[in-house]
Amino acid sequence: MPSERNIEEYTSPFTALNSERPLQLLADWVQEAKDLGLAEPDAMNLATVDAEGNPHNRMVLMRHINEREIGFFTNLESRKAADIFATQRTSSTLWWPQLGRQVRIEGTAVEMSRDMVEAYYQSRPRKSQIAAWASKQSTALASMDRLHQDFRRYEEQFSGQTVPTPPFWGGFAVLVDNIEYWYGKPFRLHERIVLTKEKEDWSTTRIYP
Ligand SMILES: Cc1cc2nc3c(=O)[nH]c(=O)nc-3n(C[C@H](O)[C@H](O)[C@H](O)COP(=O)(O)O)c2cc1C
Repeated sequence: MPSERNIEEYTSPFTALNSERPLQLLADWVQEAKDLGLAEPDAMNLATVDAEGNPHNRMVLMRHINEREIGFFTNLESRKAADIFATQRTSSTLWWPQLGRQVRIEGTAVEMSRDMVEAYYQSRPRKSQIAAWASKQSTALASMDRLHQDFRRYEEQFSGQTVPTPPFWGGFAVLVDNIEYWYGKPFRLHERIVLTKEKEDWSTTRIYP
């Protein structure tokens, strides 16, 4: 049996953390998860809040990241879109169980530019593009037959041509103002660092696990 190490000997993951580039470590962790071939490396839980203050959450794919924002694509008539148009605030969590890492991201969401939406939609597989036309996301569906009929109808309608981006399909960019990195360590001596946007800079605070 290997002898147990002292708690101080477990190295900190946060040496690479740079408060001038608060999202860089998130981008690095997603990339590492991709490089390791982990399933859904950019899947994140997305919580939104409706006009009455009720929270709703679901998974989406984080398909955009830059120095100040993350983003995802969705139906602009969905429940999550209605929540965002009403209150704008979102909170998201990514978790990579094999790496013992979690990131929480909070911010204000705005609709993405149509250029970004077009570029992403046109990069998707054709059948996914057609499925987006067929889905009135988050509204009542009488039966799966109905969805399959609509899918086939759009397949015929767009046969032999590029599938246009549906006007009701889009994306949201979340302007991040708070990000917490969580790194699991033995004995529940986990590390947590929170970066918060202040007027000019970002503050960095280590918090208890
Ligand atoms: C792993 C995973 C990834 C998903 N990614 C997306 C996504 O990127 N965009 C999306 O609209 N729905 C995605 N979904 C479906 C959503 O979780 C959700 O069911 C759908 O968007 C409707 O949510 P709403 O009714 O709260 O708006 C994903 C589901 C799973 C399980």
